[in-house]
Amino acid sequence: MRRDMSFFDEQQSGRIVSRVTSDTDEFANVVTLTLNLASQVLLVVFVAGFLFYRNWKLALIALAMAPVIMAVALAFRKIARSTSTGAQRAMANVNKTIQETMRGISVAKNFRQEAQVYREFDDVNRQAYDVTLRQGYIYSGIFPILLIVSGFGTVAILYFGGRLVVDGSMSAGDWYLFLQVIALFWLPLTSIASFWSQFQQGLSASERVFALIDAAPRVVQIADDELVDFQGEIEFRHVDFAYVEGQPVLQDFSLHIRLGEMVALVGHTGAGKSTLGKLIARFYEFQGGEILLDGKDIRTFDLQSLRRQIGMVPQTPFLFSGTVADNIRYPRQDATDAEVNEAAQRIGGGDWLDVLENGLETQAGEQGRALSMGQRQLVALARLLIQRPRVVVLDEATASVDPLTETQIQEGLDTVLDDRTSIAIAHRLVTVRHADRIVVLDHGRIVEQGTHDALMRSGGQYSELYNTYFRHQSPDYRPPEVDSMAEPAPVPLRARPADFTV
Ligand SMILES: Nc1ncnc2c1ncn2[C@@H]1O[C@H](COP(=O)(O)OP(=O)(O)O)[C@@H](O)[C@H]1O
Ligand SMILES: [Mg+2]
Repeated sequence: MRRDMSFFDEQQSGRIVSRVTSDTDEFANVVTLTLNLASQVLLVVFVAGFLFYRNWKLALIALAMAPVIMAVALAFRKIARSTSTGAQRAMANVNKTIQETMRGISVAKNFRQEAQVYREFDDVNRQAYDVTLRQGYIYSGIFPILLIVSGFGTVAILYFGGRLVVDGSMSAGDWYLFLQVIALFWLPLTSIASFWSQFQQGLSASERVFALIDAAPRVVQIADDELVDFQGEIEFRHVDFAYVEGQPVLQDFSLHIRLGEMVALVGHTGAGKSTLGKLIARFYEFQGGEILLDGKDIRTFDLQSLRRQIGMVPQTPFLFSGTVADNIRYPRQDATDAEVNEAAQRIGGGDWLDVLENGLETQAGEQGRALSMGQRQLVALARLLIQRPRVVVLDEATASVDPLTETQIQEGLDTVLDDRTSIAIAHRLVTVRHADRIVVLDHGRIVEQGTHDALMRSGGQYSELYNTYFRHQSPDYRPPEVDSMAEPAPVPLRARPADFTV
């Protein structure tokens, strides 16, 4: 829960799953083993003491085998450790592969890659099988070896004890006692020796568990002030940011968003639009400069109270399994049914609910898969209304709904956004035109900003974008007159060319 987004970018989720499930299990084993070990050691000490009391010469012979057993176990430890780490890694790989496959199953089917996916799984599975099998051989090997070693010890007791009895320096009864008790002595010793391997396995698992727990978050707050009476002023001051070291996304980026202002960000895919939203929500740590909220360093706020004020509708909204109402209620569990219903009604007049089989009680399915992408966006918007944040970041929040619904949503949003600061990342004319200010980004830099009219007049990159992509979305756009005999004029087929935004 405390790791930031860069951690989840770097770690594959399957690996995290196996750390949380199987590695912790192994770690729990270590605790049980340690307790067992303690009782076994106690047993060995008592038995050894008693044997010395009866006959110290014979007891010394029995004890002489102990270092041999320990040596065998220690030699074994080295091999066991490398195979057990290998086995766990192989299992984690299997988990990871299955998980990734599940996530992309429709893509795999679409491109008819089932055979390839199966081959990949077969590969990692076979590797896991081989490693685990080798581990099994090694582990089953240790016990017989230890039994053989201890067998030599028993033989020694039998032989030397027999001679002592013949000498008359020991009674036959004591000899018999030694032979009986020696089993009690060897058994714990062999199991102590073989514990080593399991112990090692548990230790390497615990190393991985603690690596997960102790990983230092990169997003570090220097204070935990409550963000009270947040007005919604945001300022980026000479911010430098890179997801991956050496690949800067933002360099010396400055942008001042005033109270209640609605800023639209436009620019090509990969320009850094979504990144700005993620930085405001503190999903990632920036490397240089400052981000100020109401003039105060963003690093001084308590993350919880900060994020309560930042509402985000991401590019690909994520819904949890449960009903639509559950998902709308997500930010505020105590929201009443009436509030949930009101929020839903404010999005496009609630028309979208009519299409859903059970209205608000419709099941969203795993990851919201039972709803269309557009419907998921509508749920995400309603969710935002329940959250009631001061700052709203809409990341192409209406990209997957039809233009008519979008207009309705826009009307609903306008009332909501009225007194709030909002950042709309958009590619549709409606949103862009309504903005107080349009900021054109290119490769993490602001190339132009101003109102729609001012930017159109200046004839820069925005007017170019507008003329190529946005103009035909305008209500007063008329396709050029065409001579019916000539080649038809190239009327844009799609409202959204593939290379723009996303
Ligand atoms: N999680 C990530 N890890 C590494 N690089 C990323 C990550 N997310 C985005 N980027 C890179 O950062 C740049 C800006 O991305 P983004 O802000 O999402 O662009 P857009 O303007 O399309 O929203 C892109 O070059 C992208 O490849
Ligand atoms: Mg984006």
